[in-house]
Amino acid sequence: MLKVIDAVVEFAGGTRALDGVSMEVEPGETVAVVGESGSGKTTLARAILGLQPLKSGQVEFHGEVQTGVRARLAERVGMVWQDPYASIDPRWRVERIVREPADLMGKTLDVPALLTSVGLEPAFATRYPHEMSGGQRQRVAIARALALRPPLVICDEPTAALDLSVQAQILNLLQDIRAELGSAFLYISHDLGTVRYLADRVIVMQNGKIVEQGPSESLFENPQQPYTQALIAAQPRIEQLGVIPG
Ligand SMILES: Nc1ncnc2c1ncn2[C@@H]1O[C@H](COP(=O)(O)OP(=O)(O)O)[C@@H](O)[C@H]1O
Ligand SMILES: [Mg+2]
Repeated sequence: MLKVIDAVVEFAGGTRALDGVSMEVEPGETVAVVGESGSGKTTLARAILGLQPLKSGQVEFHGEVQTGVRARLAERVGMVWQDPYASIDPRWRVERIVREPADLMGKTLDVPALLTSVGLEPAFATRYPHEMSGGQRQRVAIARALALRPPLVICDEPTAALDLSVQAQILNLLQDIRAELGSAFLYISHDLGTVRYLADRVIVMQNGKIVEQGPSESLFENPQQPYTQALIAAQPRIEQLGVIPG
């Protein structure tokens, strides 16, 4: 359903944030993108959404070249960003935030049902973002992303800005929604623990390039590249954390 073909993104100064990236996502599949900070993961998401112009290469949805027309995109791709503060307009009430993609498409939306589906009381519709916790804000961002039931959902480190106790709730919510919608997920994360638990397939990025990709299980059990081996080795394991005071 999604095809990125030899995408190159270059920033001023010559940083190649994407250096010839080709990847695909099949309908209903969950693909994780991992790699250390600065490896190009967010740039890949922005390029897929048409928010980041390509120097060369292209992005296709169902064989159709992505042109960056916003209204069409809202129906195809739901996007959940890392920071729910930055990604939702602080001056808008929840109702307007979650309605915007549907309004762009001229579609009606059952806001109370949508809020309920992400675990929020319908009464949240009248709240402003500053009247909610980080986890509640991310639920609003997820509701907005999923309002049009898009066939592809991209999550860019959706739990990284949240408290540990809330992270698991949001992950469970994303899991439930994925099962209910049957949508494909492109899940960007540097948390390999959750990637292993969520993803069918894993793409490893380093310096704007894909260095390894494969089915989740074989990649974790038998990583081929030294970079992938190092990423997996650098992952803290629960049994090594021991007892944390407090
Ligand atoms: N707007 C920008 N201007 C200049 N350089 C950028 C910009 N956005 C990202 N970069 C650079 O591109 C590279 C990839 O960044 P990014 O895609 O944000 O990585 P990641 O999400 O994996 O941490 C980094 O070297 C980053 O500094
Ligand atoms: Mg990023």
